[in-house]
Parts: sequence; structure tokens; C-alpha cells
Amino acid sequence: MRFLSLFRIIFGLVPVLRYNSSENNVAHYERISKASSFKSAFYLLDKNRDDFINSTELGIVMTNIGLNVTYDELDQMIHEVDIEENGKVSYYEIMYMLDIDKIIEARDIQEVFNLFDGDNDRMISKSEVLHVMTLLQGKVALNYVVNGVFKDADKDGDELIDYDEFSQFFKHIFNTFSG
Ligand SMILES: *[C@@H]1O[C@H](CO)[C@@H](O)[C@H](O)[C@H]1NC(C)=O
Ligand SMILES: *[C@@H]1O[C@H](CO)[C@@H](O)[C@H](O)[C@H]1NC(C)=O
Repeated sequence: MRFLSLFRIIFGLVPVLRYNSSENNVAHYERISKASSFKSAFYLLDKNRDDFINSTELGIVMTNIGLNVTYDELDQMIHEVDIEENGKVSYYEIMYMLDIDKIIEARDIQEVFNLFDGDNDRMISKSEVLHVMTLLQGKVALNYVVNGVFKDADKDGDELIDYDEFSQFFKHIFNTFSG
């Protein structure tokens, strides 16, 4: 996985983590500013809050969400965005790279989908969403967060999110929210 893909994934999940059952979702996305979400995404990775993400911290998050990576892969991921070549990534470096590389690639979406789809049945259930959100935050996600995701993403109301529904949902978050 590319660093920017992972960052986009986490950034895309931040508004979801902050779902509030008492307002509609469009209002919700508009209220949370892009900058504040980027910061939240950054600090989900920057565990010791020294304003840099190093390969150890990257490895912690990737392992937490169930992605196996080698030290070499972690170094490569850091290297991809490490303009100053000091082995760690600043907020500014990510912003700069995201500005150049604006595309949400289909493979980014597929990777997030696979991340959620723990049992590989091509469908995401409520318990799978709860599981990934909990791993990512390092604390138990709330049911209303999960219900908020389903309210928005589960178009046919079958209590499962298929790839098409997921893809629409994810693009919707990005478009509403990072435009
Ligand atoms: C990398 O991050 C970890 C976890 O926050 C920290 O303990 C470690 O000191 C950092 N390493 C360097 C070289 O900054
Ligand atoms: C990650 O590695 C562990 C231990 O080697 C293995 O049990 C697990 O299946 C791997 N997970 C993935 C998603 O490859």
C-alpha cells in the first residue's frame, strides 16, 4: 500500500468516526473542516505527537488494522512522501504530496473495502465496521457511528454494504468534504 493511500483511507474515515446521530450527514460533513480532519488523521498516526510520523508509528497503525508489512515496506512508504529525506513525515509533506497527487484510485477504495471485509465474503457487515473502527481508534467504536455509516452507505437497506455501495459512499465523503 502507498503511504498516500493509507492516509487517504484514514482521512476518509475521520468524518465517519465523528458521526453524530443527531444531525444529517451532509450538515455533518460541512461542519467538519477539511483542515481539522487532516489534523485528526495525522494524529491518529503520529502516536507521540511530535509532529512527525516515523516508520515505527506507521507500522503500529498498519498492524492494528490488520495489514502485515515488513520494515522495508514501511521505509518505502515513508520515503514516498519524505521530501526532506529525514526518515519521517511531517504534516506539511503530506499536504504537499496530496496536492500533487489528487486522485483517489480505484485500488485505494478496493484496499479499504478489503480491510473492512474481514471474512472475505465481498460484503461488509455492521460488526465488520465496528471492528475496524475500534482497531483504528484504539477504543471501542460506538454503535451509532456504525449505524451512521449504514444509514448513508447501505442504499438497498439489506444491512450489508457491497463494493458498489462502499465505493459510492467513500467517493461521496471525499467529494463533499475535500473539494
Ligand atoms: C518513532 O515513533 C515512536 C512512537 O511514537 C517513538 O517512540 C520513537 O522514538 C520515534 N523514533 C524516532 C527516531 O523519532
Ligand atoms: C499477518 O501475519 C500473521 C502472522 O504471520 C498471519 O497469521 C496473518 O494471517 C497475516 N495477515 C494477513 C492479512 O496477511
